[in-house]
Amino acid sequence: MGDSTRAVHEAEPFDEATGSLITPIFETSTFAFSRAEDVPKAISGEKGYTYSRWDNPTVRRLEAKMTAFEGGGDAAAFSSGMAAITTSVFAFIGKGAHVLAIRDLYGGTFSLFRHLLPGIGLATDLVETTDTGALEEGVRENTKIVYIESPTNPTLKLVDVARAAKIAHMAGALLLVDNTFASPINQNPLGLGADVVLHSATKFLNGHADLIAGIAVSDEPKAHAIKMARREFGGTLDPLPAWLVLRGMKTMALRVRQQNANAQALAEFLSSHKKVAAVHYPGLKSHPQHALARRQMKGFGGMLSFEVRGKMRDAMRFTESLKVASLAASLGGVETLVSQPANMTHTQMTEKERLLTGMPDSLVRVSVGIEDVDDLVADFRAGLAAV
Ligand SMILES: Cc1ncc(COP(=O)(O)O)c(C=O)c1O
Repeated sequence: MGDSTRAVHEAEPFDEATGSLITPIFETSTFAFSRAEDVPKAISGEKGYTYSRWDNPTVRRLEAKMTAFEGGGDAAAFSSGMAAITTSVFAFIGKGAHVLAIRDLYGGTFSLFRHLLPGIGLATDLVETTDTGALEEGVRENTKIVYIESPTNPTLKLVDVARAAKIAHMAGALLLVDNTFASPINQNPLGLGADVVLHSATKFLNGHADLIAGIAVSDEPKAHAIKMARREFGGTLDPLPAWLVLRGMKTMALRVRQQNANAQALAEFLSSHKKVAAVHYPGLKSHPQHALARRQMKGFGGMLSFEVRGKMRDAMRFTESLKVASLAASLGGVETLVSQPANMTHTQMTEKERLLTGMPDSLVRVSVGIEDVDDLVADFRAGLAAV
């Protein structure tokens, strides 16, 4: 099936018991049994349900839909993207483990690897993002996880996913990939050799900026390990937001295609503007990894960033002058959002760490929505005129 057909129909047959066309919301914390002998099967996860922190039929449908989209064996849904990331990481590390990651990471993930894991005695290294040679040199005997994002947040750098998978596997480690920025419409890391794909479902999957959710997709044994860790860490997704993500996903293919097209047009407009010092978008021929983007991505995505020529306050002037786009954190929704990583999404980093990853004060990140592209270009033109 194609992406649009799959988005509408995958894992969502009509409800046999009632005829309900739409997936029911099983908003229940627990499940009752008429036969006590059925309990062990439900507890082991083989058949039936026990308790909604463990498993729930509405949440299951979201997991099945995402399993199909990412080409995995199973999935685990979480109450946030960070819950999906932390639980998946903890599912595969143990005493004495080493985690190797790229330097350009979402702020929360950066903090997990930079502060939280070292704080409990686990070794981590963050290395240069675009050079897989740095990953090759960075793996150790005790490396259990190689962790990457591609494209990265907020500078849209790419990591060669297939190469990173080979490096991880040669070292006996797993490759975990945060695919939030691309969405499954534009990139499928499992097909490139990754072991676990992570999403902040808050973003492109749901697409409507009205909830927080996350998901991890992998083969069946790894998903089982993640689900077992989820039982203990407890960051399971509630059935109501799971249902909202399912509803949002029905238009995911349509939305993302529009976002891809709008982002390409906006990136091209910004590239030719004299008040813009640099534009980062994998769909631009000038992007240093454009050839890699063509190889491993099906579309170039709805995210871009650019440097306003000037200082922090010049970029602030731009963001507050916009009329169609809003100044807000988060991404992947139908509305265009702009943010300044230096004072919003990446405050966990020191200035030195930010500059090392190419994130000056004047950098503006754009999550391109589905509005008419002419309105977006006009809005950005007026915003730059105000600088
Ligand atoms: C790339 C990326 N990964 C993970 C997350 C964390 O997701 P959540 O906010 O749903 O916990 C975010 C949030 O912005 C993100 O941008």
